[in-house]
Amino acid sequence: MTAPARTLFVTTALPYANGPFHIGHIMEYIQADIWVRFQRMRGHTVHFVGADDAHGAPIMIAAEKEGLSPQAFVARIAAGRKAYLDGFHISFDHWHSTDSPENTELSQSIYRGLKANGLIDVRRIEQFFDPVKGMFLPDRYIKGECPSCGAKDQYGDSCEVCGSVYSPTELKNPYSALSGAQPELRSSDHYFFRLSDPRCQAFLREWTAGTDRHGEPRLQPEVLAKAQEWLGVGEEGGSLADWDISRDAPYFGIEIPDAPGKYFYVWLDAPIGYLASLKAHCAKRGIDFDALLADPATEQVHFIGKDIIYFHVLFWPATLKFGGHKTPDRVNVHGFITVSGEKMSKSRGTGISPLRYLEIGMNPEWLRYYIAAKLNARVEDVDFNPDDFVARVNSDLVGKYVNIASRAATFVNRFFDGKLAALAADPADPQAHRVAGLAAEVAAAYEGREFGRAIRLIMGYADEVNQYFDAHKPWELAKDPARRDALHEVCSRCLVAFHRLTILLKPILPATAARVEAFFGTPDLRWDDLGVRAGAASPARAIGRYEHLMTRVDPKTFDALFEPPQPATAGAAEIPASAAPISIDDFARIDLRIARIVAAEAVEGSDKLLRLTLDVGEGRLRNVFSGIKAAYDPARLVGRLTVLVANLAPRKMKFGVSEGMVLSASADDAGSPSGLYLLDADEGAQPGMKVR
Ligand code: 2FM
Ligand code: ZN
Repeated sequence: MTAPARTLFVTTALPYANGPFHIGHIMEYIQADIWVRFQRMRGHTVHFVGADDAHGAPIMIAAEKEGLSPQAFVARIAAGRKAYLDGFHISFDHWHSTDSPENTELSQSIYRGLKANGLIDVRRIEQFFDPVKGMFLPDRYIKGECPSCGAKDQYGDSCEVCGSVYSPTELKNPYSALSGAQPELRSSDHYFFRLSDPRCQAFLREWTAGTDRHGEPRLQPEVLAKAQEWLGVGEEGGSLADWDISRDAPYFGIEIPDAPGKYFYVWLDAPIGYLASLKAHCAKRGIDFDALLADPATEQVHFIGKDIIYFHVLFWPATLKFGGHKTPDRVNVHGFITVSGEKMSKSRGTGISPLRYLEIGMNPEWLRYYIAAKLNARVEDVDFNPDDFVARVNSDLVGKYVNIASRAATFVNRFFDGKLAALAADPADPQAHRVAGLAAEVAAAYEGREFGRAIRLIMGYADEVNQYFDAHKPWELAKDPARRDALHEVCSRCLVAFHRLTILLKPILPATAARVEAFFGTPDLRWDDLGVRAGAASPARAIGRYEHLMTRVDPKTFDALFEPPQPATAGAAEIPASAAPISIDDFARIDLRIARIVAAEAVEGSDKLLRLTLDVGEGRLRNVFSGIKAAYDPARLVGRLTVLVANLAPRKMKFGVSEGMVLSASADDAGSPSGLYLLDADEGAQPGMKVR
């Protein structure tokens, strides 16, 4: 009996639209995609959606640095997503953005629901304000000396040297990491979601400890334990603090209704982006979004990483509940990905670029298989190890699975015109061998996200099929025309088993499965095609011409994967060879300093020059003329850091004296002036710092 059809709304965490996907994103998408593909094969309806998390101060600031509007900045990132998602066969039904009309409408309506429930408070709070940038500073943009150990240049929330945690106002000699200015304490009204309200506490205690409609705990045990710790379960008076959900203009986000100049904090509207993406998907498909979302039969399942549990098991269900929506059925949490045991850095990634993986021609299904083999339902980190990767792909996929088809197909094509034998029941054959039980066990493993277990079961069966083949020695049967029937039967049984293995692996290897479907002429294989239901037989009856299904991984490929990317050929040709070598002493004679552009303006009478007023940390400002007018709007340069040749002899020009030279890159000396790129310094550099 097949289980009744389910309707599932499945999401993965929304990536910030400030950079390309890294391998951690791809791992999560692969995990969710395998689960979704399995559900679809079972005949369930799945709405699988994602989106870019577009809002927030960091994206606004990054866009400004590049001289782009935040909308243009996130659009550029969004344009790059398809190559990854298609490349790794991630079957999202829709990819959206939190910066969308659907998200604005949903966020504002949910906020109104919270307000109507008496769960919004307005309070005046004091915060650091950057007088140069004219904005309140998020904690990560305030730096200073640690109040505990005195270490310099520590972030506004915690010290990387001694580990102490504090509020930004406790930092000594604080400065803005954006402008270097000393921040001022200013107060403004902030909007709070009153999570401390007893209704929220009671709801969250019940929701986190609850089960889904199938009687399975809604949270993994380690996630529930964390949630209970945060909720103070078992403690006297343990409770959640209220949540500050507003930010002051300027901010890239969604305006709070009836609160001019106030925007939702990015983490309020980000998960609502799940609903916004579903809504856009529904509009595309003519589905009634409100009915689908409100239908008690719709199961809402989120896949996330362990770093964002707090938001998804406390803030998000409470936002939905008191904002007037159904709450999630499950939140499935995975660990991080490490590479050969090394942790990934959010800024540097892991050294594996998913795009490079595809560009150098590595098979995306190798990665899908390898990641699946390492995944289970616990919140454990997954290690990507090149030797292990090669061993698993080559031995399991090529050596065990594909090997069955390549060996058996040769005989069936040569002697039987590609037709499989009609198979009588035989308790000794690998098909009869516990196929029904195996299918049920593999299905339970997929359902429970125990993908490593599913693979062990499947490969155990592949081993048995290979043993059956070896035991019957078809290469010897083939020598004796009197034993043709036996040869036909043995090879046919192996090919039917291979067909079943393909169905079992299809959630992980969708592209290979499509080729096998074509090979057998059995399109769109579903779980039921395993033929384990009463009276059903395998639909595999004949094969086409066998073409090799998967190549082995060449370990040398990893050299290319970890190599720094080469510049594109066209670009490389334009980059001239380096100039003649100089000694380190020659270089040391050039005094390069970090400079902040305090003011920039066009120079009357010059179509090339901008007048820059620079702070080089000398207690006075310098005047420098720079020929970058065609490339830069002066207003956009103010506040930027750049590099100045500080000991260049002052030069008297028609418009005044230039006290140094700012550095910029260009492809070619004779190139157009708009192809100039002013040098930048990383966040945290200070005017006057020496560049060496
Ligand atoms: O941590 C992150 O990358 C966030 N952009 C995840 C958001 S998930 C959801 F809430 F949108
Ligand atoms: Zn410290």
